[in-house]
Amino acid sequence: CGIVGYTGTRQAYPIVIDGLKKLEYRGYDSAGVALQQGDHLQVYKKEGKVAALEEFVGNQSTAGTTGIGHTRWATHGEPSDRNAHPHVSKSGNLAMIHNGIIENYASLKNELLKEGYSFQSDTDSEVLLNFIEDIKLNNNCSLEEAIRIALKRVTGAYVILIVDAAQPDTIIAARKGSPLVIGIGNNEHFLGSDASPMLAYTKEVVYINDYELAIVKPDELILKNLGNETITPFVQKLDMELAAIEKGGFDHFMLKEIFEQPITIADSLRGRLVIPESKIILSGVDAIQDKLMQARRIIIVACGTSWHAGLVAEYIIEELCRVNVEVEYASEFRYRNPIISEDDVIIAISQSGETADTLVALERAKAQGATIFGIVNVVGSSIARISHAGCYTHAGPEIGVASTKAYTAQLAVLMLFALKLAKVKGTISEERFQELSKELQEVPEKVEWVLKNEVDNIKAIAYKYKDAHDVLYLGRGYNFPTALEGALKLKEISYIHAEGYPAAEMKHGPIALVDDTLPVVFVASKDAYHEKIISNMQEIKARKGKVIAVVSQGDDMTQSIADDIMQVPAIDEVIAPILTVVPLQLLSYYIGVYRGLDVDKPRNLAKSVTVE
Ligand code: G6P
Repeated sequence: CGIVGYTGTRQAYPIVIDGLKKLEYRGYDSAGVALQQGDHLQVYKKEGKVAALEEFVGNQSTAGTTGIGHTRWATHGEPSDRNAHPHVSKSGNLAMIHNGIIENYASLKNELLKEGYSFQSDTDSEVLLNFIEDIKLNNNCSLEEAIRIALKRVTGAYVILIVDAAQPDTIIAARKGSPLVIGIGNNEHFLGSDASPMLAYTKEVVYINDYELAIVKPDELILKNLGNETITPFVQKLDMELAAIEKGGFDHFMLKEIFEQPITIADSLRGRLVIPESKIILSGVDAIQDKLMQARRIIIVACGTSWHAGLVAEYIIEELCRVNVEVEYASEFRYRNPIISEDDVIIAISQSGETADTLVALERAKAQGATIFGIVNVVGSSIARISHAGCYTHAGPEIGVASTKAYTAQLAVLMLFALKLAKVKGTISEERFQELSKELQEVPEKVEWVLKNEVDNIKAIAYKYKDAHDVLYLGRGYNFPTALEGALKLKEISYIHAEGYPAAEMKHGPIALVDDTLPVVFVASKDAYHEKIISNMQEIKARKGKVIAVVSQGDDMTQSIADDIMQVPAIDEVIAPILTVVPLQLLSYYIGVYRGLDVDKPRNLAKSVTVE
């Protein structure tokens, strides 16, 4: 979910609505706002996207200089007007928005039901709000005190913003496990799940930590811990520009982000790859170098697309650094009591730096003595902050829900990491180091080549296969994770069922699916296993499947076997995944567009999943 708040001298409604639109990538099942109008709270909420809320509000009164807003990704209770936030307390005096999950809501709800409460929604959030109000009334205490008492009884994750009809110009906020940023303006304050809603107004922000409570007024920001001790806010300056989060002439953020990759990959490498001196500068690696040298193994923890980047890294790090690498889904890792010791180095990969499963997995591993290295895109995010050391990916804000430029930036950084570690460990020859450094340096122009020369061709392929029911993606070696990522992209954007598989494993199951209606995408750039993948292609052709292949320029042999080809410039197999994924991103994008879907906001997904 995305949350926004404003208190100051301007009208809150347009600022909150605009902020919600910037945060819609976090969920878009419903949207709502609460405005303080004198001693009355005006609440509007609606199922659907922020635009539906705006239409619903129409000409109704939106006056007020203090307001909160929410865009929801449903957890408890279906997407509906009723379950939309803000929720209003029984007395009507409090309105609250919540991002996260209250795990013990059922027992809290039972307590309240016994006291005669009834509920308007199916959400855990409404339970928490009434629980807070109940404490306030029973203890005859301030709202702030009631929130503190309530939160000590709550298990789960939350960011809450509450407005009280009796406390004009004030928003009370608290966080545990879900992100909250407060922007400081001139006689005004902005609140958001990330800094994008406030970027047009201020660059001075405070990242709120877990178990902190903020009392926010136009001219005052008071920060306290749950023990009621005051904390001095740590103000940071953002170096993000507004243009970075706008579409800049592209039809969708996803397309803009795909096209940004030559620049973003260069940004990820900038200042880090110093070829003449045969050096890689990553101070995060220096900071934990001893740990890395001693590490018996490296465990990579991530979710979704970031997990695929981890799989690529497994192949590369094992090959170049000769150290054991395990790649774990964060959600599984955190619950299966893994064996972790002080000798383990954990690499966390996350675009948002807020994915709840990844964050908790790291907290657990950290508590058991492991060293955490974060590869994160969002500066100042929770994962960045709990890591011992790390390396930002520098892809800039990624808004499209399906990850593209953040993925290639992760791969760029992971490749730098592997090269640097290999050099430090002495497991790579100087010649190979130079060769791969040079290949890495050339990636941005090779991606540029694909974007300049292949888009029309890929559009035509997308059109041809847009009505497929299933698509199989196959790859071997370094490009096996690319096949997984290609399939994930297609699923996310087009709702076509797609599966990624190791090309050779295909014959142990998926081959049963092959007939003349099944498109099979091969990631077949030239590598050490090239002849093997050609055999796999022949196996598909023999069963009348349609072969679409990502192939190296000049590879006439493969090009003649495939029904449709997407070309990429020749590249070393170790670096290839960062390039071969680009045609697959474009293929998914155009199939989604031809199917008339909202590719930036695919149904049911959210960009930043701050619930487990
Ligand atoms: C969500 C997004 C995916 C992303 C995954 C992990 O599911 O829709 O695109 O790969 O979360 O997110 P992270 O921010 O940790 O990389």
